[in-house]
Amino acid sequence: MAETPSDRIYSGASPAQVEADLAPLVDFEAPGLALDELRNLIEERLVPHLMRYDRDGFLSMFNAFPEAGAKLGAEIATTYNQGVTNWQVSPGGAVLEELCCKALCRLFGFAPTAEGTVMYCGTYANQQAIYMALHQAAERSGVDLTRDGVMGFPGLLGPAVLTSADAHMSMRHAVRMLGLGEQSLVPIDIDSNRRMDVTHLSIVLKALKDKRPVAAVVATSGTTSTGAVDPIAAIAELCAEHGIWLHVDGAYGLAYSLVPEWQSRFAGVEKAESVSWDPHKQLGVPIPSSILFVRDGAEFYRMALHSAYFNREDTGEPNPGIRSAPTTRPMTALPLVAAIRHQGIPAMIERLRAPLAAIAALARYVEEQPDLELGHQPDTGVLCFRLVPADLAPELHDGLQDEIYRQIMRRGERSISVTQLGGTMYLRLVAIAPTTNIHAMLETVAAARIIANDWKGDR
Ligand SMILES: Cc1ncc(COP(=O)(O)O)c(C=O)c1O
Repeated sequence: MAETPSDRIYSGASPAQVEADLAPLVDFEAPGLALDELRNLIEERLVPHLMRYDRDGFLSMFNAFPEAGAKLGAEIATTYNQGVTNWQVSPGGAVLEELCCKALCRLFGFAPTAEGTVMYCGTYANQQAIYMALHQAAERSGVDLTRDGVMGFPGLLGPAVLTSADAHMSMRHAVRMLGLGEQSLVPIDIDSNRRMDVTHLSIVLKALKDKRPVAAVVATSGTTSTGAVDPIAAIAELCAEHGIWLHVDGAYGLAYSLVPEWQSRFAGVEKAESVSWDPHKQLGVPIPSSILFVRDGAEFYRMALHSAYFNREDTGEPNPGIRSAPTTRPMTALPLVAAIRHQGIPAMIERLRAPLAAIAALARYVEEQPDLELGHQPDTGVLCFRLVPADLAPELHDGLQDEIYRQIMRRGERSISVTQLGGTMYLRLVAIAPTTNIHAMLETVAAARIIANDWKGDR
């Protein structure tokens, strides 16, 4: 593989430069290439522009380099190119997915009735969870959702979905795609640490009672912006009281519930009707790898569709394909199983603990620095803070964070991201690789300070 110089995480090239480099790769009129020529072309033209998630300086997104066991699993999955929809297309693949999901339910401490299904990504896992919740709400209201869709619900507004302002945008996608529209999203306030405010949730649930059906409450265990974990146990209690489906979006954060010192933050997740999780975010398994869990496996009947030739009813054969929409499903379970079996659980927990500890240490450092302002206390592996130099006018502070982001990304030595919290711009550091450490983060802070020193409000 072409090596990215060790002081870089990618080439730092502009979109136009990348486009020019890639042009020969997509010259489909050109004669076919021998495999070694093809490899050279890809390594020369594409690889330098790929992001090295395994370098210390990569501190911006939820991505990880593949782990050795996962790579072996992926290689075998690719060799056999299995579709694992049902027994008919892959006996081993179908059973492996079912066993893997069941074993993960045990690992996370879910109910004995819990089951899971492999999804293409967290976005679709969240969407399916909302569909299943809607289906249950329809059943309660005597509506046949399968036949009539959301038009079957009485009233103009239809059912509501309650979630915090910091929920992932996949919630907006979900309600759009399900025909509920974004008007169905009822925002719940967040507290000073950006976790869902349970008191406000309780007020909203009471206000909606007998006025508008609530299809689901969606809590997030590890928000995208700040990694905040909503107080799931208290939310679950309210949902149980009101008979409402609780979905936990654990796409990013659920893995951290496996780390003993962080476990208590996730208390109550086992009470949720559904939970989504993206192992591809930090477990070192190939993208995509997502799972939707349900507390009661029987709930998957809400998705089941049978035909005369495929996914036939009552064959008694393993059939993961009736738990979600796609007919063709990849053997995603194999790289995941291989990653877990290769590392073993104690090493995997260590892998998860390292970035959490690094972020906690960074938060302590930021708190002590007069030129830095902390955006929140970290619940998981994300920290937002801003540079607030005493000699720069406060109205220029937002522009400074954006400038730091642009310059750092252009250099290609490290990566960082930005986000807005309450309308204010913050730098956002993500620790996800098992090799992440406080030193790499402090180097990034130092690089940001140099940019801040030179910047006076111009671009
Ligand atoms: C909290 C949360 N939910 C959902 C998603 C969407 O997952 P995916 O990117 O797999 O679609 C993300 C992505 O980062 C996320 O952070």
